[in-house]
Amino acid sequence: MSETFNIGLGNNDSEIRKQSESDFIAFWADQAKKLAWFSPWDKTLEWNPPFAKWFEGGLINASYNALDIHQKNKANKPAIIWEAESGESRILTYKDLWIEVQKFANGLKSLGVTKGDRVTIYLPMVPELPISMLACSRIGATHTVVFSGFSSASLRERIEDSKSKIVITSDGGYRRGKIVKLKEIVDEAIQNFDFVKNIIVLERTKEPIQLTSRDILWSDLIKNAPSECEAEKLDGLHPLYILYTSGTTGKPKGVLHGTGGYLTHLYSTFEWAFDIKDSDVFFCTADIGWVTGHSYVVYGPLLHGATEIIYEGAPDYPEASRMWDIIQKHKVSIFYTTPTALRMFMKFGNDIPNSFDLSALRLLGSVGEPINPEVWKWYYEIIGKEKCPVIDTWWQTETGGIMISALPGIETIPLKPGSGTRPIPGVNISIVDEEGKEVPPNTKGYLIIKNPWPGMLLTLWGDDEKYKKAYWSKFQNVYYSGDYAKIDEDGYFWLLGRADDVLKVAGHRIGTAELESCMVSHKDIAESAVCGIPDDLKGEVIIAFAVLKENVKKEYAVLEKEISDKIRNDIGPIATPKQIYFVSKLPKTRSGKIMRRLLKAIANNDSIGDVSTLEDVAAVAEIQNTVQELQKSIKEKNN
Ligand code: WT7
Repeated sequence: MSETFNIGLGNNDSEIRKQSESDFIAFWADQAKKLAWFSPWDKTLEWNPPFAKWFEGGLINASYNALDIHQKNKANKPAIIWEAESGESRILTYKDLWIEVQKFANGLKSLGVTKGDRVTIYLPMVPELPISMLACSRIGATHTVVFSGFSSASLRERIEDSKSKIVITSDGGYRRGKIVKLKEIVDEAIQNFDFVKNIIVLERTKEPIQLTSRDILWSDLIKNAPSECEAEKLDGLHPLYILYTSGTTGKPKGVLHGTGGYLTHLYSTFEWAFDIKDSDVFFCTADIGWVTGHSYVVYGPLLHGATEIIYEGAPDYPEASRMWDIIQKHKVSIFYTTPTALRMFMKFGNDIPNSFDLSALRLLGSVGEPINPEVWKWYYEIIGKEKCPVIDTWWQTETGGIMISALPGIETIPLKPGSGTRPIPGVNISIVDEEGKEVPPNTKGYLIIKNPWPGMLLTLWGDDEKYKKAYWSKFQNVYYSGDYAKIDEDGYFWLLGRADDVLKVAGHRIGTAELESCMVSHKDIAESAVCGIPDDLKGEVIIAFAVLKENVKKEYAVLEKEISDKIRNDIGPIATPKQIYFVSKLPKTRSGKIMRRLLKAIANNDSIGDVSTLEDVAAVAEIQNTVQELQKSIKEKNN
């Protein structure tokens, strides 16, 4: 029996669940009507598995729903309260944001950007990032935001795959007081790409930069741009954005989201999960470069005309108290963050949050990875002072919005630390075994989604086959999430980590294949394998194994540094392994598949279990020795 916490906001709208249960399609049609449509859709859902068409034929615009509809009653309400890392803040009201977006949209148009063009956005967390996205959606351009911590090689891959005509960046961005020179990274990324017509450069740091004839400063672009730009009337299925995410293959997948269904999903979940009210100050700490930022920093809050905080920098900079300081300063009432951040705050000790006035808080959320019950309780007691519900929201880049969560906005149910509680209304999620049969309560299985839902990805950009294979082939015509989960005796869902070769480091998705192919592209490496092992802070960290080519005579320390640098350079710092082990062979099955399960067990000092399918048992002994020796020498070094 797990502990329960009976805390709610007094909301109970059982009608919503009832309606969703009788006819999920009609239910979502009712939700969609809460958005502003220029004209109604022909058919709510056309389901041609695995392709769902939600609200086809309806005409809508995301930017219009985020901005124009608020001009009558909320023009002077703050939309974005931006907090710079330096402590400076900037407030943009709904009117300010609307004007900035229109000017920039006209700027994009003046460069020839039209409906259907792709625009890559590589910006730090500054207001111009949501402005760029909303300007794209206003004119029907498909934005593809690349997290500004990604390397130039990763950026290049994404610009190339999306064939972006324009790249929007800045001279630099601040991280822990230091400047990251983004423009230089872009210059490297687009070498020999003739299809990139222009680079728009925002001057954030004002450090000197080199401009070429295809570069144009943001300030110059909008200087004479008219401040009115009518929103394009776009089909419900119009591609709003591509967001690349790691999968089980070497190449990142371009998750493509549409407009009408995606916005409907966000509008509903933002209200149900976060109980948003006009007086709230919402603060989601996610970087806009990830899906959480797209859905619950940009689109969700703005659709509701909410006031929100956007923070530029590192969560513990310049002080460990930075988040609590922001919550106190701006009277934040809803706070949404990750378990990794919470574990870090918890380590800093209770005195820090206890010395701030957090009394405006009324709801807390978590996302991105499983939240340990003790961290949940700390969040609930120390941050929420036992008066705020803590919601654990499960979803994915592919689902577009929250799929499993307690929903204080519409129902009060007892919370169990570590459980996401139940699926949202209108979605059909279950847990199945290898054969696709539902498992009994408290049994681990695969999390699948049985019906299409409005926020679901349309496909993978330019690759319908991969879309089918990645999500719809393990089980016939149901969506395979790649996650393990179980349902307890009360119908509560518990997420149990990834079932595939995707790692979750500090809540970020990293594909093993992507990392391995990066490692073997180092000239001295013949083979490699990576796996994740549990970590107190980051949830999971990466351990890598490398087999060197014959006659490589370099010292391991030198090689280790070269490989780490290569990974930083090719993928980004988030993918750097905690430890690299050099071995003479990798444990493989007779069919030649690397046994990552075994590597993981060895690195964790766990029992290695059944190795009957192993091709070469000697590989295991060698790896065990290597790992033990290295762990011993690390311990000695630390003593
Ligand atoms: C994967 C999706 C959700 C937006 C941010 C991450 C894991 C996500 C939870 C949670 C346990 C979670 C899953 C999922 N995950 N939320 N509340 N509890 N695990 O999006 O990068 O697409 O990653 O994150 O493994 O499949 P993403």
